[in-house]
Amino acid sequence: MKVTVVGAGAVGASCAEYIAMKNFASEVVLLDIKEGYAEGKAMDLMQTASLNGFDTKITGSTSDYSKTAGSDIAVITSGIPRKPGMTREELIGINAGIVKSVATSLLEHSPNATLIVVSNPMDTMTYLVHKTTNLPKHKIIGMGGALDSARFKYRLAEALEAPISDVDGMVIGGHSDKGMVPLIGHATRNSVKVSEFLPEDKMDWVVQETKVGGATLTKLLGTSAWYAPGAAVSGLVQAIACDQKKMFPCSTLLEGEYGLDDICIGVPVLLGKNGIEKVVEIELSDAEKAKMKESAEGVKKTNGLLQL
Ligand code: LAC
Repeated sequence: MKVTVVGAGAVGASCAEYIAMKNFASEVVLLDIKEGYAEGKAMDLMQTASLNGFDTKITGSTSDYSKTAGSDIAVITSGIPRKPGMTREELIGINAGIVKSVATSLLEHSPNATLIVVSNPMDTMTYLVHKTTNLPKHKIIGMGGALDSARFKYRLAEALEAPISDVDGMVIGGHSDKGMVPLIGHATRNSVKVSEFLPEDKMDWVVQETKVGGATLTKLLGTSAWYAPGAAVSGLVQAIACDQKKMFPCSTLLEGEYGLDDICIGVPVLLGKNGIEKVVEIELSDAEKAKMKESAEGVKKTNGLLQL
């Protein structure tokens, strides 16, 4: 199993690190445009192998896509991250050109790869990859919901004063401050709905803090987060590499599911060796349906800014 991660910045390097730590891939190639940077990150990570106990071989490349040839999975983290006060949507101008050229170069050398898009605005970048490559839709996956759900569980555990392993929950919709739809009505603590334990105002707090989870970190760090995004990507890569049929909310091209069409947006999917093996349609309340519709309108507005 060969995995390429394009972009050796903080998110890309964390992806490579977590993938290696899980020890399921034979090879991870890190690629970056900055001279020597990916090689340096790869070497530093390889020097953790004996300490951390993994056998995955990590190599780096400066813009040489021939090194990525034959990848089974490729992760696109390239582009600029947001700065404090910016929305993810504001990155579209710069990132669209980068993501399009990265996807094209990757597929030239690995025509059968499954692509995972992380660059922002993620749902629109995932849609762009659909529109500009001829990969089948099950091989193009946007990473957002897995990260947003992890942030949701973190806040749920905090509000419940419970260990994270006690809680479960999922965030669907667009990967944006306004567009996320944390499914608080479905969230549970050991299969008991969290509404049994939390008052309305606490549940509203959890939802709100989840939606601005990325922005909160951007404000604290001065740039976008990387540990949780990297861990979320590694979970998707592992589910595909190990054919786990695991359910994650991911951005995928919808063609009628959830009443939506011609859009990439976060919905629960099953991930296995073929990439997205199924879109799981769950029953939503009227309020959740309305939020999903509003979220889709936001994503479509951003998609409208693409020059296709
Ligand atoms: C975040 C970026 C990856 O939410 O979108 O941290």
